[in-house]
Order: sequence, then C-alpha cells, then structure tokens
Amino acid sequence: MSDAPQPIEQSTEWWELAAHQAEIADVHLRELFAADPTRGDRLNIEVGDLYVDYAKHRLSDETLTKLFALARRADVEGLRDAMWAGEHINVTEDRAVLHIALRAPKGVVFTDEGHDVVPDVHEVLDRMASFSNRVRSGEWVGHTGKRIRTVINIGIGGSDLGPRMAHEALLPYAQENIDVRFVSNVDGTEFYELTHDLDPAETLFIIASKTFTTLETMTNAHSARDWALASLGDDAAIAKHFVAVSTNATEVEKFGIDTDNMFGFWDWVGGRYSYDSAIGLSLMIAIGPENFTEMLEGFRLVDEHFRTAPMEQNLPFILGLIGVWYNNFFGAQTLAVLPYSHYLAHLTPYLQQLAMESNGKSTDRWGRTVGTQTGEIVWGQPGTNGQHAYYQLIHQGTKLIPADFIGLVSPAHEVGGHQDIFMANFFAQPEALAFGRTAEQVRADGVPEAQVAARTFAGNHPTTSIMVPELSPKVLGQLIATYEHKTFVQGAVWGIDSFDQWGVELGKKLAQAIIPELTADAAPALGHDSSTSALIRRYRKGRGRA
Ligand code: F6P
Repeated sequence: MSDAPQPIEQSTEWWELAAHQAEIADVHLRELFAADPTRGDRLNIEVGDLYVDYAKHRLSDETLTKLFALARRADVEGLRDAMWAGEHINVTEDRAVLHIALRAPKGVVFTDEGHDVVPDVHEVLDRMASFSNRVRSGEWVGHTGKRIRTVINIGIGGSDLGPRMAHEALLPYAQENIDVRFVSNVDGTEFYELTHDLDPAETLFIIASKTFTTLETMTNAHSARDWALASLGDDAAIAKHFVAVSTNATEVEKFGIDTDNMFGFWDWVGGRYSYDSAIGLSLMIAIGPENFTEMLEGFRLVDEHFRTAPMEQNLPFILGLIGVWYNNFFGAQTLAVLPYSHYLAHLTPYLQQLAMESNGKSTDRWGRTVGTQTGEIVWGQPGTNGQHAYYQLIHQGTKLIPADFIGLVSPAHEVGGHQDIFMANFFAQPEALAFGRTAEQVRADGVPEAQVAARTFAGNHPTTSIMVPELSPKVLGQLIATYEHKTFVQGAVWGIDSFDQWGVELGKKLAQAIIPELTADAAPALGHDSSTSALIRRYRKGRGRA
C-alpha cells in the first residue's frame, strides 16, 4: 500500500469547495439560467450514443473547476491508470481490478501479475458463444432429448442483478422460444413461483456464483437439483440440465457439475462488475452472442473515453464529481435514478449494488476512518410510475434529492402516441424541479390565496438528463460503463477501496450460526441478545418446535 496521503477533507481543494458552496448555496437555478442563456447548450456532453445534460445542477463554471481540482488532488487519474495497469488497487483483498479487460478486443493487453488476461477472456467468450448457440438452436437438448425451453439463472447480488437487469433491458432482442428466468432469493417461494409451471426435461439451470459457496445460491442450486432429479430420475441428467459460472472449479465439481460445463472468470472481476463476464451467460443465451458482443463494444467505447478524455470532458468524472458536490457539500444523502423506460425497471437495483456495495465504506484505503460522507444511497423506479408515488417529496419536500433522468428517443415498440406522452414527462419533470413555480405565477393562474403557499414550487432541485436514441445492446453497455466509472471516480475521491465488500460478511456469519438454532428439535441454548433470542423463540414456536 502506498503512503497515506493527507485525508481529502483536509485539503485546500476541499476547503475551497466548502467556501464556494456557502456562496452558491442560495443561488437559484432560475438565476443561473437567466445569467447565462447558453447554459443548456454548454453544460452537456456527448459520448457515443449518450447525450448528457448537466445544466440543471446548482453549480457554476467555478464549481466545476474546483471539483476537477479536487479530483486532481485525490489523484483519481492516477488510480484509474493503476487500474488499467493491473495494479492491485483492491487493496484489502490484494487483487487487480480488471473488469475493463472483459470487453477488451483480442490483441489488447491487460496484465495481472505479468499474465495477459485478454486471451483467457476471449477463450471463455468463445465457449459461451458456442454453448449459447447450441441452446438457442435446439442442438443442446435435455436428458430426455427435449429442447430447452427455459433457462434459469440461479445467483444473487452481482451474479444476478446484472444479467437480470440487462435481460430485462434487452428483452426486445431476446429469442422468443426461450424463457430466461432469475432465481436469487433464498425465500423458497421465489423458487416455487419460478419453477412450478415448468417441465424439468426442458429446463436448464445456470448456477452463477463467483465463490460457489454463497448460502442463498447453493441452497437454491440444491433445490433445483432435487427438483430436476425428482422428475428426471437419473444423476446423469445433471450434465444436460446444469452448467456453472464460477471462479471455483473445486466446488463446482463437488456439486456434481462437470467442469466441461463450467464457464470461468477470475478474482480480478468483482461480483458487481461481472455481468459482461461469464456471469452474463443467461443474457447471452437470450440475446445471442452477436448482441452480447455489441454490448461489450458499448462498454469499451466508454472505457476508452474514461481512460483518455481530459477530465473536463470526461463523462464519468463529471457525473462522479457532481455526486460528490451534493453528497459532501450540500449534505444530500441520496440519488434518485429515474429511467423513463419500462425495460429499465431493474436498473436501479443493479445500480444500488454497484454504488452502495462499492462505496458504502467508512475505512479508507490506508486503514483510517474516513472523515467525510461516502456512498450515495441510490433509489428510484421507472417514470412515470414514480411521479404518482414519491415525486411529491422531491418537488415540495424538505430534502435535497439530486436525480438522474434517463430517457430514450425511440422505444422498442411504438404503441399509439405513448412515446411522446412519456417523453413529455421526461422533459417536464426536470424542468419543474429546476424552475418550480413562484407564488406570483401561482397567483397569476387564479389560485385562491389560501392555497398559494401549498401550490408554490420552490424549484432549485438538481437533475442530470441522460438521453439515448434507443435501448440497444450497445447503448446499454455505454450506460453501464458510465455508472461503473462514475462509481470509481467517487470512491477514488473519498479514498476508499470500491472493490471489496467486507460489510456483507457479518450478517452471513451470524445467519449460518442461527440456522441450527432454528432447525434443532430440542430447544437450543440461545446466546444472543434478549431481543434476538425472543424473536427466535417466537419463530420456533410458530414452526411447532420447542
Ligand atoms: O453480497 C455479497 C456478495 O459477495 C456480492 O459482492 C456478490 O456479488 C454476491 O455476494 C454473490 O456472490 P457469489 O457470486 O460468490 O455467489
């Protein structure tokens, strides 16, 4: 680990931003736009297919200059280059962070400890493509010779959220005669709901787990095996109905899956950065290898932009630093992500893991307690549904909630005049949030005086608008790479390791200890706090146990 630098919040750049915030805090977006009529034409950036407007943010050119200075002070570019060089920037796990190699074309070199990983990546991609094609064409058949009609990905966290999100996003590209489903929760009702209507002879399970030890995934995987064998009867059926995606060949073999039917990845791919690795196998089966390759090209386009564009014209830098501005200088706690696309319904849960598992840390890369706020809390669901649920609080509540709006020019399916109505909302909401409605305007509308205050909108609510031509595989890749690198920028500014996740370990360990306490026939001695023990006793009673 390199020598610890001065904590970022003690730097001159930080204090200059804090002082600047005090000056700008009361400046309204109405004033910023009035002072500079070209603001909307200036404060935007186009990267590949992404058009990103950041004019409706409570910042000036001076703010941006100061934010870039902060990023220079934190040496975000240095850390980015170290990631590209394969240095072990995941310091607590002593690992390289090379998800960028997952989308590298053949011939480009990414090394982990002197070994070029790109040929390994392509070897797996080629095997995935060949397997996907066999399933898609019907050449790969089940144990009884029936064609595979349903593919179920069993995984959780990074081994679920990415392929699930992308499968939903790219549903219009999916082959119609194969149904791809996702089981993640250890709540058995999910497994039941997703399997009870299926014929095991036509079902293929992908057991996706980096470690192949995750309690939820392995419990579901064993239930899947029991479910399949109850009908197919013969252990030999496993080879036709189960494949694995993992870094752990030993555990895969122990489970009974032939390692010929295993698609590997590597410890330098973090779970939440893994859906463009073999973890995306379910997605590739759905959309086909060509669309998958196009998606990787989208990722790569933004990778190259992030690697090479000057900070001032670098989208992940701009978005990451704007997030830092609100999180650290305005006291904002959350970021609402509001996609105006039904197909992006799973984007927010995906981004929750990306942002919150990456940057929800309170120890820095040098083992010190951080002296400032870290991770953004990400939430939201597709518009316009959210407009009829929680937008009230964003518009007129007391909290500052920056929001990302994501909209498409062309939908996958044109239905009547829906798209124009839909997108009118995409344009209207950020406008309403930014400019609000003054009491004078409300009065001029003829509103009775008693209602004027309640019907006034303060405005000054910041938003980013991301507009893309359509939701194609390539566009999705660009969008996700942007959020990945945005997360990187923020973690680098805060000085934390965005690539470990120790915070999920304690709960896992305690759950393992509690399982036998729930299942024991005789009343176990419960050594928990009185609250937990009382809850466990009540549960046992409800389950008819002593
Ligand atoms: O939630 C913790 C975590 O380790 C995630 O980082 C990971 O994506 C998920 O569990 C699943 O892990 P695995 O792929 O090893 O089953």
